Amino acid sequence: MTDRVRIAQVGVGYWGKNLLRNFHSLADVQTICDANPDVLSRIGAQYPGVKTTGNFDDILNDERVQAVVVATETPLHFDFARRALEAGKHVFVEKPMAQTVEQAEDLVRIADDNNVRVMVGHLLLYHPAFRYVEGLIRNGDLGEVYYVHSQRVNLGIIRQKENAFESLAPHDLSIALMFIHSDPVAVSAQGHAYLQDGIEDVVFATVYFASGQIAHLHTSWLDPQKQRAVTVVGSNKMAIIDDVSSSEKVRLYDKGVVVAPGESRYAEYAEAMSIRDGDIVIPKLPTEEPLRAECKHFVDCVATGTNPRSDGRNGLAVVRMLSAAMTSLRNRGAAVEV
Ligand SMILES: NC(=O)c1ccc[n+]([C@@H]2O[C@H](COP(=O)([O-])OP(=O)(O)OC[C@H]3O[C@@H](n4cnc5c(N)ncnc54)[C@H](O)[C@@H]3O)[C@@H](O)[C@H]2O)c1
Repeated sequence: MTDRVRIAQVGVGYWGKNLLRNFHSLADVQTICDANPDVLSRIGAQYPGVKTTGNFDDILNDERVQAVVVATETPLHFDFARRALEAGKHVFVEKPMAQTVEQAEDLVRIADDNNVRVMVGHLLLYHPAFRYVEGLIRNGDLGEVYYVHSQRVNLGIIRQKENAFESLAPHDLSIALMFIHSDPVAVSAQGHAYLQDGIEDVVFATVYFASGQIAHLHTSWLDPQKQRAVTVVGSNKMAIIDDVSSSEKVRLYDKGVVVAPGESRYAEYAEAMSIRDGDIVIPKLPTEEPLRAECKHFVDCVATGTNPRSDGRNGLAVVRMLSAAMTSLRNRGAAVEV
C-alpha cells in the first residue's frame, strides 16, 4: 500500500470540522490547529491519534506534513496559505482564497516558485449536479448558453468579517466561470447593509463576459427562504440546479424559442418566433457527497502532482470578480472592469 498523504489543518470550526471528517478518512491527518482552546479540545477528542496545537508554527516546522488545509475565517486565509506555501507545503484554502487581487496573485506566484499545488474550496466544481450540467454545456445539449442566474439566500449565517457577497458569491462566480466559456470583463453590484455598518446583508450583482453573456447573482443572509438555485438558459434547452431539493437536483427543460427559417432572431415581427414547450427531464445523478469528492481531489492531486481543478488561478479569477463587485458596491452599482 502506498503511503497516505500527510495533512495538517488550521481552523476546525463550523466548516473546518466537515473538512477534517473527510480528510481524516482519506489521508493521514497529523495535526490540527485552532486558536480557540475549547474548539481544539472538543474536536481533538474525536480524533485521538491526531496532535492538537494552538501554534501554527508547529505545523510549518513539521517536515512530515506535506499539505496544509486552511479553514479559518476569510481575513486569515492569505497569511496562513502564504506561510504554508513558503514552507514548501501544498495548500487547500477555503473560498475566497484571499481578500484582495494582489494577495491572490501572490499565492499563485509563491505556489509556482515553490513547485507546490494550491487548491481553493470551490465546492460546487465537485458537485455531481453541476458536473452534469457542465457536461450538457460541453456536448452542446443546451445549445448556446445565453445567461446564468443564481440565488444563494437564507436567514443566516450572518458573518462579521465579510459581507454576504464575499461569503456566498464565490460559489456562484466559480460556477459562472465553469458554465460561460469567456472572460469576465466587468461587474456591477448593488446591495445594502441593514444589520451591521458597512457589511452588506444582500447583494445583487451582474457579471458581464467578453462574449456578451451575463451571469446574475442574488446573495443574501437576510431572506425568509433557503434557496440554492442556479438557472442556465440555453438556446436549445434550459436547466435549473436546485441544491436544496433532495431528489430533483437537476431539472432539464426542453424549452426554447424557435426562430422561423430564414428569419433572424432579431426579426421585426414576433410571428417569426414560436415558443417550444417540450418535456422536463429529471436525470439520475451519482450520489457522491460533493465535499468528499472535493477533499479526495486534493489528496489525489498532492499524491500525483496534478494541478487541481479549482487551482490558484481559478481562485484568483474569482477574487478578481469579487474585488470588482466590492468597488461597484461602493459606487452604487457602477460597472467596474475586472
Ligand atoms: N465551502 C463551503 O461551502 C463553506 C461553507 C462554510 C464556510 N466556508 C468557509 O470556511 C471558512 C471558515 O468558516 P467557518 O464558518 O468554519 O468559521 P468559524 O468561525 O466557525 O471557524 C473558524 C475557526 O478558525 C479558528 N481560528 C481563528 N483564528 C485563528 C488563528 N489565528 N489560528 C488558528 N485558528 C484560528 C477559530 O477559532 C474557528 O474555530 C471560511 O473561509 C468560510 O468562507 C466554506
